[in-house]
Amino acid sequence: MSVIAPTNVKASEPNMYGYRAFELGEFRFSRDEYFVYLEWPTGKHVMSVDSFLKALQRDVAWQFFYGIVNFDGVLGTVNHYGTVDLFAGRYNDVYRKAELDHLENFETPLIRETFERMLDDWTNVGFDPFASPTETGSAFGIKNGDNRAAITRHRVTASRMVGVPGDEGLRSDDNGHPVNRHFLDVTQEEPEKLPEPGFEDEISAFNLFAYLSRSQVTWNPSVVSVCGDSLYCPTTEEYILPIIHGNDRVEWFVQLSDEIIWQVEDRDTGAARAKVTMRPGDVGAMPADIRHQGYAPKRSMLLVWENADPDLPSLISSGQLPSVPVEI
Ligand code: PHB
Ligand code: FE
Repeated sequence: MSVIAPTNVKASEPNMYGYRAFELGEFRFSRDEYFVYLEWPTGKHVMSVDSFLKALQRDVAWQFFYGIVNFDGVLGTVNHYGTVDLFAGRYNDVYRKAELDHLENFETPLIRETFERMLDDWTNVGFDPFASPTETGSAFGIKNGDNRAAITRHRVTASRMVGVPGDEGLRSDDNGHPVNRHFLDVTQEEPEKLPEPGFEDEISAFNLFAYLSRSQVTWNPSVVSVCGDSLYCPTTEEYILPIIHGNDRVEWFVQLSDEIIWQVEDRDTGAARAKVTMRPGDVGAMPADIRHQGYAPKRSMLLVWENADPDLPSLISSGQLPSVPVEI
């Protein structure tokens, strides 16, 4: 393997399909026209390249998110907020019992740069890993260009609230955010704002449904308002959440429109825990010891409410806080 300057990313020369292979510690990733192959000292694994790139895109854009990002039942990352574990089979009972699992810890910049380079090298022109299946091209085939605009698109992370002067802006036709085909019936009226003189820069209000109706992407929570550690992260969903999220804290869901079916499993073993169907107005709390994956039959609006308090993972794992928000 040659090291491509100027980073520490270990990448090979392109293979016969035009794609580089990448090494991270003792893990090796390679792809061909349809599949991604993962090898580690005690095992190997294969995934469809479109599922892999959709998961990789989110892990990169969300900077490894909260807790565990499972690409599927075998491969994933654990965020330690400064370092990241990359694992195969660690949260899979069968791999664990057979002692075939493998886990390595990396400084966040090294795994981030490796993942960014892999995402760039393996994403062909016309394929947008954030888009819904009918709103994007194909991930398959031999190497064909790139799609840097899509894979590096701006992630909305308001510091106070969308629409506040100097903060994240509203979406419009003019800034490349037309109303999605599934949301043509969503009213685009904006609230009237009547701030007292002198408070014009402090008062903001916007139509969240209109804002979400103009999302270009799926399964990508945007931080639209921040109050201390309380983050409102609404998102529009269609088809399947490309990762299985393993929580390190409680997350609340408010279903704003349409329907999402959640498969909920034990975070550590993958054993089935629940199937939850959420319809408009339903509110749910996902415990801190589960993993979950959502299925949205048509584009829907979901409010994910996150508590970003950095002390939560250790308070919960040490038993000082329960893994559920309410005992019933
Ligand atoms: C989640 O893991 O809670 C999650 C991730 C992405 C979404 C929605 C929910 O779009
Ligand atoms: Fe989650």
